[in-house]
Amino acid sequence: MTLNDEQCLLEVRGVSKAFSDRRHNRKVVLDDVSLKVQQGEFVSILGKSGCGKTTLLRIIDGLIEWDEGEVLLENQSVGKAQRQRMAFVFQDSNLLPWRSVKKNVELNLESMKELSPQERSDRAIEALRLVGLEDAADHAPYQLSGGMQQRVGVARALARQPAVFLMDEPFGHLDNFTRERLQQEIGALIERLNATVVFVTHDIDEAILLSDKIVLMEADPGRVSKVFNVDLPRPRWRYNVRAHPEAMRLREEIVTDLHLKIADWVQPEEAMLNGSES
Ligand SMILES: Nc1ncnc2c1ncn2[C@@H]1O[C@H](COP(=O)(O)OP(=O)(O)OP(=O)(O)O)[C@@H](O)[C@H]1O
Ligand SMILES: [Mg+2]
Repeated sequence: MTLNDEQCLLEVRGVSKAFSDRRHNRKVVLDDVSLKVQQGEFVSILGKSGCGKTTLLRIIDGLIEWDEGEVLLENQSVGKAQRQRMAFVFQDSNLLPWRSVKKNVELNLESMKELSPQERSDRAIEALRLVGLEDAADHAPYQLSGGMQQRVGVARALARQPAVFLMDEPFGHLDNFTRERLQQEIGALIERLNATVVFVTHDIDEAILLSDKIVLMEADPGRVSKVFNVDLPRPRWRYNVRAHPEAMRLREEIVTDLHLKIADWVQPEEAMLNGSES
């Protein structure tokens, strides 16, 4: 379907969600969260641990129910058909150890009944080629480094050719060198494919490097506190971005915002030690 300018590809409208703890006390995790994602946009959700980022992604993907609000993909309320049009990349690739790399990618296509076995195979090979792993197609997962396994996780999502990629800290468990490399490479690939991405992170520099828009969340309950547009030229390279005046200004603004939020819940003495005054 085609979308006009006012419509967006993905929209979260006033979503709220509470969980019950073991004593059946209700805890509001997301409170009236709204979010708009345009076709081809890279939107990061940035916030401290526990603010509800993963919960929000799982709601968008229809993995869990929500209490209030709406989630729309191409103007349709998210149901089974829309779920097929989204693909998740998790923090861990969780590859099945007894399947080859290619068979792991194909596994993610098995629910797409419209694809023949040959099409599944072709898509898996193409996705592995995009992440630079075509030569490892027949390897077992244990033969891959952590960074390579995460690339397979990305390939698995690419093979579905989704309308939206949902990525939950996909580089979060990698060492610094590998993380920086994958941020650069996967970032460039997403840009080249003009893919639409909702990306969860708590790394400010990662969010600035990759995003068109950064949605800052506060915790208890999880709410959108601010939305920043990242007006930096593309293609972006880590070291150019770091030194770019607009990136520095943005970083300062985000850090200030996060520190002000921290100052709400630490003791004044602690806040001063951390260099933030309430
Ligand atoms: N299934 C569940 N049952 C009860 N509480 C839950 C459930 N899932 C999440 N929560 C609670 O919801 C809150 C938000 O969790 P969530 O995993 O969405 O946070 P997050 O922002 O992704 O954190 P992190 O950065 O550590 O991954 C937490 O307080 C968590 O304990
Ligand atoms: Mg999380």
